[in-house]
Amino acid sequence: MAKHKIAVLPGDGVGKDVMEAAQICLDALKLDAEYVHGDVGWEFWKTEGDPLPDRTIELLRSVKACLFGAITSKPRDEANEELDPGLRNKGLVYFSPIVRLRQEFNLHTNLRPCKTYPGNPLNFRDDIDLVVFRENTEGLYSGVEFHPVPDEVRKTLLDNHPKMKRFDNASNDDLAISCRIFTRAGCRSIARQAFEYAKTYRRKSVTVVEKPNVIRETSGLMVRETRKIAKEYPGIELWEANIDAMCMWLVKNPQDYDVLVATNMFGDIVSDLCAQLVGGLGFSPSGNIGDRLGVFEPTHGSAPKYTGMYKVNPIAMLLTTKMMLEYLGETEMGSRLENAVAAVIKEGKVRTYDMGGSNTTLEVAEAVARKL
Ligand code: IPM
Ligand code: MG
Repeated sequence: MAKHKIAVLPGDGVGKDVMEAAQICLDALKLDAEYVHGDVGWEFWKTEGDPLPDRTIELLRSVKACLFGAITSKPRDEANEELDPGLRNKGLVYFSPIVRLRQEFNLHTNLRPCKTYPGNPLNFRDDIDLVVFRENTEGLYSGVEFHPVPDEVRKTLLDNHPKMKRFDNASNDDLAISCRIFTRAGCRSIARQAFEYAKTYRRKSVTVVEKPNVIRETSGLMVRETRKIAKEYPGIELWEANIDAMCMWLVKNPQDYDVLVATNMFGDIVSDLCAQLVGGLGFSPSGNIGDRLGVFEPTHGSAPKYTGMYKVNPIAMLLTTKMMLEYLGETEMGSRLENAVAAVIKEGKVRTYDMGGSNTTLEVAEAVARKL
């Protein structure tokens, strides 16, 4: 029996291209693993009415780690139009598979390292090395939303909050409400992980990114809980920044930041900004980590227009694979993979179009594999 069983979910669009690239490097590393392919994505939405079929959920229950490619998501009405005729008007609703996986498997922590590698012409600066810890299951992603807003919900809000009066003139259909739900446990858990990481990797600061001056209750809870956790780590500074100012500071002085911790939506926003600082989405890996399962995916999407063209940069996926190897305890292989990626970037001979080159996804992967 192989040492590791890994679920491989290429998904849509360029997810398949970059997954092939990852496999080339995993094979070159001779990781002792059994790879089991699973179905996920738009194809299965169209033909089965479910982009994340039960058999895939079952597969994920049997593994510790999953490599995930990319997923296409479309707005509700467009999604309905693309369903096979026999499945239309049955009340099926498209729901993002990755968001569902995060919630169903309680993948509470989204870890997104953003690091510049020397020689990358796309670096915003050459000295950026930060890690985003994004809470991954709560907040505006909780899915508790209303449109139209039911009478009982309106009445309860009105009875309990004077500020609701301002919306009295709008009809139920003219109102939409999304709930930003935080739990104390969720806030504490993500803050704890950020500090633990800072301690393990000797980082000097953790910055909590929120907006408690305006969103008093939810942001307030997150910041207060983070402060409490920070007290347990006297050697690590806690910095506090509002999300808007943080975007500015990250463009101005990105090299000053070590570890960022944020709730779900702000973490989503800030991680795209950080990705661009280190060369764009082609360089940004991520891990969705729970207590029993880790799902590793590049931060980029499925880029449908490049499907099957082997054009996109596989580096995000290769760095994602490195994160998975570390999670599986294969730290030595993880470092070898990262060093090989860094060497190929530094040499600058084999590059995809985003870096000004004309090599394919797989040529980059093969160049990395040769260094292993
Ligand atoms: C991400 C993505 C997802 C998110 C989308 C695809 C649902 O933007 O992983 O950052 O919003 O979390
Ligand atoms: Mg995002």
